Amino acid sequence: MCENTRTKTQTQYASGKNLHARGNFHATYSNKNWFRWVADRLTLAPGMRLLDVGCGAGWFWANIAGSLPKGLHLTLLDQSPALLTEAGKNVRSTGRFAEIDVIVGDATELPFDAETFDVVTAMHMLYHVPAKSVAMEEAFRVLRPGGTGHVTTNSEENFRAVMTLGNAAYGGPDLDPAAVLFGPEDASNLLQDRFTDIETRVYQDTYAVDHAPDVVAYLTSMPPGNEASDEQLEQLLYLTEAAITAGGGVLNVLRESVLVSGKST
Ligand SMILES: C[S@@+](CC[C@H](N)C(=O)[O-])C[C@H]1O[C@@H](n2cnc3c(N)ncnc32)[C@H](O)[C@@H]1O
Repeated sequence: MCENTRTKTQTQYASGKNLHARGNFHATYSNKNWFRWVADRLTLAPGMRLLDVGCGAGWFWANIAGSLPKGLHLTLLDQSPALLTEAGKNVRSTGRFAEIDVIVGDATELPFDAETFDVVTAMHMLYHVPAKSVAMEEAFRVLRPGGTGHVTTNSEENFRAVMTLGNAAYGGPDLDPAAVLFGPEDASNLLQDRFTDIETRVYQDTYAVDHAPDVVAYLTSMPPGNEASDEQLEQLLYLTEAAITAGGGVLNVLRESVLVSGKST
């Protein structure tokens, strides 16, 4: 992995602070349940062996645990020891899985034998990985034939209204940077190389944001907002308040993410 990118990603996730800032934004304003929506499309069956690459704080599994089939064996892998510790606690406290393994590791070098898992997920994480095709080959290698691989990411339109404010205040990108690095088409093309039956499903929600500091907290949880000066952040707050006022008390923000799935041959 490119050393500079790896270090920046490790710094961003050295603690759970940044991921929590973004999680809070979703928890405050979402009208639908993203985790549930994804879970409904994974077709899990009792006793399956699952691997979640870049699991973060394990929110996905903790959120949907109550409705999962019994007897699942879940392996959580992340490069961040701090987030992985949180993930282990969050997911174990559900008492819902037959077995949970928690492993510090890298998506491009999975420490598992070939054909170990029935399902591999990589949710909102491949945009952090420079060697995406290596990560995809690794996911394919550890899946049994007929197993399924699932990738989630954002579309370029995701959070456009928020990105536009960051752009005006400190020259940040006006499109979702995750989508620019790894958007829906990139995800589909990546899976095409090894998987069959590729399917892209789109998730949309509209957030009615009414508190300007929430936008500041979201944008400063990631580059380049995390490096903005105090003056630039004051400007961001001012512009966000003005946008909320102009919207009659709310800033409507489109959330658009995708789930791209394929079958291992
Ligand atoms: C945006 S978070 C997504 C967390 C979780 N999948 C979710 O959807 O809530 C990205 C996660 O990917 C992890 N990550 C980034 N690069 C990685 C790599 N090369 N190998 C393993 N984990 C990685 C980060 O530490 C972080 O926990």
